[in-house]
Amino acid sequence: MKIGIIGSGNIGGTAAKLFLNAGHEIAVSNSKGPQSLQLFVESLGAGAKAMTVEDTIAFGDVILLALPWRKREVLRSLRSELFKNKIVIDATNPYSETFEVIDLGNRTSSEEVAKQVPGIHLVKAFNTMYYETLRDGSRPSGEDRLVLFIAGDDDDAKAVVSKLIEDIGFVAVDTGSLREGGRKQQPGSPIYNNSMTVETARIRLAEIA
Ligand SMILES: NC(=O)c1ccc[n+]([C@@H]2O[C@H](COP(=O)([O-])OP(=O)(O)OC[C@H]3O[C@@H](n4cnc5c(N)ncnc54)[C@H](OP(=O)(O)O)[C@@H]3O)[C@@H](O)[C@H]2O)c1
Repeated sequence: MKIGIIGSGNIGGTAAKLFLNAGHEIAVSNSKGPQSLQLFVESLGAGAKAMTVEDTIAFGDVILLALPWRKREVLRSLRSELFKNKIVIDATNPYSETFEVIDLGNRTSSEEVAKQVPGIHLVKAFNTMYYETLRDGSRPSGEDRLVLFIAGDDDDAKAVVSKLIEDIGFVAVDTGSLREGGRKQQPGSPIYNNSMTVETARIRLAEIA
């Protein structure tokens, strides 16, 4: 698949490498422009491209949001038609500039991201795992694979994201809707930033249901 990645730091850069190694085409972007990412894409190898944010979205069948949550309004500034028929993965978490969790009250962070683009097909994923675990935690197959949690309201989109997760050596576990599952995947939850297999994930999820 073609995967466009917005944000090329710890999570975006790590995911780019994993997707590329799994045979996908990737484009990466940031706020500074493609020129600033040339060395990085060269280090990734053939099949990696650097683009503007807008071109990255046009490029991808799937878009990974790997920028700070507080920068989500960049999506609102883009033409909403760009997102038509795209699946958007939201890896962001609601941290302030000083890395404090932003209190959203009743709201969830991915719902706030989804509000930026009407009709967006959003799946919350890749937000619960520390990037070094993502970088090093891939397993060939079997029950020892680590879990990446997914939440969303679009089952077809979740199926596509689950397959991508499998392609890079992890296993997807569905936590539910963007609201209920999204809440379970927020910072502070027992499944947040805790590496676990499917067996443990099912136990933890039952505990917080
Ligand atoms: N670090 C982790 O282990 C981890 C794990 C799970 C989820 N997350 C979440 O993933 C997101 C990224 O975290 P990170 O640790 O990868 O951060 P990071 O290393 O600081 O990378 C952030 C990236 O976003 C880009 N960016 C910033 N503003 C942008 C904008 N307006 N438009 C386009 N790109 C922009 C930055 O590039 P420029 O500044 O050059 O534009 C940079 O490439 C955060 O929401 C975080 O909560 C992080």
